[in-house]
Formats: sequence, structure tokens, C-alpha cells
Amino acid sequence: MTDWKNPPRLFIPGPVKVDDDVLKELSRPTLGHRGKEYAQLHSETVDMLKQVLFTNQNIFLSTSSASGIWEASMRNCVDFDETVLCTCCGAFSDKWLDVARSNGRKADELKVEWGQPTTPEQIDEKLSTGKYSAVTLVYNETSTGLTNPVYQISEMMKEKYPDVLVFVDAVSGMVGLPLHFDDLGWDVVFASVQKAFAIPPGLAIAAVSNRALEKAKTVPNRGYYFDFVQFAKNAEKNQTPTTPNIPHIMALHYQCKKLLAEGMENVWQRHKEMGEFVRIWAKEKFDLFCEEKYASNTLTTVKNTRDIAVADVIKAIQEKHNTVFGNGYGKLKNQTFRIAHMGDINLDDLRELLGWIDEEIG
Ligand SMILES: Cc1ncc(COP(=O)(O)O)c(C=O)c1O
Repeated sequence: MTDWKNPPRLFIPGPVKVDDDVLKELSRPTLGHRGKEYAQLHSETVDMLKQVLFTNQNIFLSTSSASGIWEASMRNCVDFDETVLCTCCGAFSDKWLDVARSNGRKADELKVEWGQPTTPEQIDEKLSTGKYSAVTLVYNETSTGLTNPVYQISEMMKEKYPDVLVFVDAVSGMVGLPLHFDDLGWDVVFASVQKAFAIPPGLAIAAVSNRALEKAKTVPNRGYYFDFVQFAKNAEKNQTPTTPNIPHIMALHYQCKKLLAEGMENVWQRHKEMGEFVRIWAKEKFDLFCEEKYASNTLTTVKNTRDIAVADVIKAIQEKHNTVFGNGYGKLKNQTFRIAHMGDINLDDLRELLGWIDEEIG
């Protein structure tokens, strides 16, 4: 019998396991969101996020999941007579293209096969047409466990297309993977907190460049809930446009403090070590879905080369150990499975999980 009050330990690629000390932060007495106390919480959290993301530009806290910022990037920063290039390499990058079109934006796709990266050369070829005002990138494609070469792409873009806006979905990458927002020259980057921040779902974080904000001021019909101009106006008072998810911001404040105490380089290194650990196991027992060079340090998508009954193994481990990992996403279900290694877990947690999978597969 499953019991939502005694849920399994999560190794799915989000939401991930949340430690008790973080959960405790969510249960603090609430604050009035227009009062001095909230302003202090907001300003300290934003200041820390600026350090986490290496930016001096704008940070917005959105009481939504990250999908809201998919929509926000289009509504604020792409005008109706412009065309955005959406790079697609898996389920989530594909969805962003749908979001662009469902918001009435003209969007072309640059599609590669699932498991393949999007390269600077492919983007260069498309942008050389001069047709595009913006490009979307997914830093870490959670369906395939692939990390795109976003640093190389950004170098190319800064050199050859400095006027094209860059929107980056870092939902399963932020905190787990290096991210120097200002140096990369990005315009919008975002994540939801249920991934490497290791907080329950309910809040999204966006960094927005000053030029993206200026652009937003010129775009009509930005909508109400995700209007960057309103976010910026309220940020001046250390507030959000609507009532924010204050318990989550308290937990985010706590997590940012921990991240900065650890040091971002160390946080990225810890994720790299966890990624390497799982990849060594995956290559010995199965294979990696992506070429290793592009395999993510926050989750591993394992190619099911032994044709194991993935759902049965997940079920058995849940029943015996109250722990779950992820089946493959969408069309990759059963052909692959996914193990998340992000947030507040360590090699011992992973050793335990991999040992249990070994017991099941014999
Ligand atoms: C890469 C990526 N982008 C976007 C999303 C959507 O995020 P949310 O569910 O927080 O809206 C996810 C969710 O897993 C994701 O992995």
C-alpha cells in the first residue's frame, strides 16, 4: 500500500528528496508580503541568488513552476513581428517550442535527435540567415540526461550575434552545473526549486538581463502574471507583483546560504563526482543513453541494454526500500531509466540505490 504521508525517497529527476532541515524552513510563521520583514527576506535571498548565478542584473521570484518562465520569456521578450529560434533536443525543449507558438509567437525549430546535443555550428547556420531575434536553449535536457554545450554556444553568440537574445532553460541544471549569467551574456535563465535547490515544488527563479527588461517595455500585451516590467518595479521595493510563496522563499534563503557556504565551485564539483560515480556504474551494467561527453552531472539516463523490466524494478525497490528512481521519459520509457543525482544527496545515497538495483537485476 502506498501512503502519501510516508512517501518514497526520491531519485527521480525532480522533485528530488528534501532534507528535514529544509522542510522545517517551510513551516515558519508567515509574513505579510508588503511588510519590512518580507522585504528583508526578499532582498537577502535575491542578493544570495546573484552570487549563486554570478550576476549583477535582475532576479525575479515567481510563484509558479518553471513552465511559467517558458511563457514569460516569449510574452516579454519576443514581439509579434519577430521570430524566435527554438532548439529542440528532447521532451522539454520540444515543449518550449509549443509554448512559444501557443503564445502566438513565430517560432522555428532547430531539431536534433533525442540524445544528441545542439551545437554552436548548427545554431550559427540558422542565425546567419538574420531571421531571428532570439534563441531558446535547454542547458540540461531532463528527458535524455544531456547537457548542451551552452558555454561554447554562448561564446559563438557573443562574437557573431550579440543582438540576438538568449533564453536558457536551466531547470535541471541550475546549481548543479556551472552558470555565470553575466559572462555568458544570457538574457533569461530560469529553474524551478524542486530540482538541484532541493526544495519542494512551488517556486521558480529567473535571472533577466537589463536589455531583456528594456525589450519587455516595448512589447505589448505581456499579460499580467508574468510581466517582467511589473516584477522589476516591485523588485525595487524588495517585493513581488502578487502574493509570493513565502514559505518557499524562506527555504530558498536557507538553501542559498548553504550553497554559498559550500562555495559554488565545490557544489558543481560535488555534482560532477556524483555524475561520474553513476556513469561508471551505468557503463559497467548497461550503457549511457548520450555520448559521455554530453552526459549530465545532475541526472543519468541509462540505456536499458539488458532489457530489464524497468517498472518492475522500480516497484520492487519502492516496496522493499521505500525509494524510487525514474523510468525513461515519454518515448524513452523502458528503453531507458533515469537516476537523479542533484541537490542534497551524496555518494553514499547513490551507492545504496545502485546496490539495490544490482540486487534486483542479478
Ligand atoms: C528541462 C526542464 N524544463 C522545464 C521543466 C518544467 O518545469 P516545471 O515542471 O517546474 O514547470 C522541466 C520539468 O521537469 C524540465 O526538466
